[in-house]
Amino acid sequence: MNPNNTMCEFTSTKMFTFTDEDSEELLEVIIPEIAEAAYGMYTWPCAPVLAQYVWYHRHRLHGKNVLEIGSGTALTGIVAAKCGAHVILSDSGLHPECLENCHRSCRANGLIDVEITPITWGLITPNFLSLPQIHFIFGSDCFYDTKDFEDVLVTVSFLLHQNPLAEFWCTYQERSASRSIKFYLQKWGLQAEFVPTDTFFTKEQTNDAPGLDSVHMILITLLTDSQVQMSSAISS
Ligand SMILES: C[S@@+](CC[C@H](N)C(=O)[O-])C[C@H]1O[C@@H](n2cnc3c(N)ncnc32)[C@H](O)[C@@H]1O
Repeated sequence: MNPNNTMCEFTSTKMFTFTDEDSEELLEVIIPEIAEAAYGMYTWPCAPVLAQYVWYHRHRLHGKNVLEIGSGTALTGIVAAKCGAHVILSDSGLHPECLENCHRSCRANGLIDVEITPITWGLITPNFLSLPQIHFIFGSDCFYDTKDFEDVLVTVSFLLHQNPLAEFWCTYQERSASRSIKFYLQKWGLQAEFVPTDTFFTKEQTNDAPGLDSVHMILITLLTDSQVQMSSAISS
């Protein structure tokens, strides 16, 4: 991945390049960002890491339904859409500027069939009921603020109970050793598996992922019934 910045009047655009040395496939994604804005208006270090995981597993995504939560500039959702997935991007209903960001990123990459919908973590709203079957949920840097940890997992748990075979592909940045989602995972019937980043990044690609040392990739799935019974037996 080679992010290159070019500035224009109010926004900058960043180019992300994904390559496969074996097949010589190449994907270039353009992400517009709002200069000097914070939070969901530019691409966080977690996003290129999740996007690389998506690129590495792109053959699993073709024709599948993907929902990205907390999309921001939507790099990972855009990569999935470019790799043939049916993608729904989402961000908080309280941040319409981030939903506009999603539209901007789609336009910059010539994507006209990506759905964009407000999904606010912790709120189960009527638009959930109109979602199609979801195969994969993506979330990059959604565990940014500790006050949101449980709400993110409430949303993910709801979606996984609706789609029991789906997986939540997620990256987070380690900002303090005292922050943990472990308690909420168990509370909402979920389990997490770490994926070492060197299993989906080559040595050359890691040079282009700033912040990789502090970014972790996890897969979150539903606990099975027998795992739920075992954990309640242990805790009672
Ligand atoms: C740290 S940014 C990460 C953005 C993007 N995924 C990335 O990695 O570049 C967190 C994102 O979550 C969104 N967000 C914050 N609070 C939210 C909420 N309560 N419900 C849904 N999305 C929220 C923000 O608007 C922002 O886009």
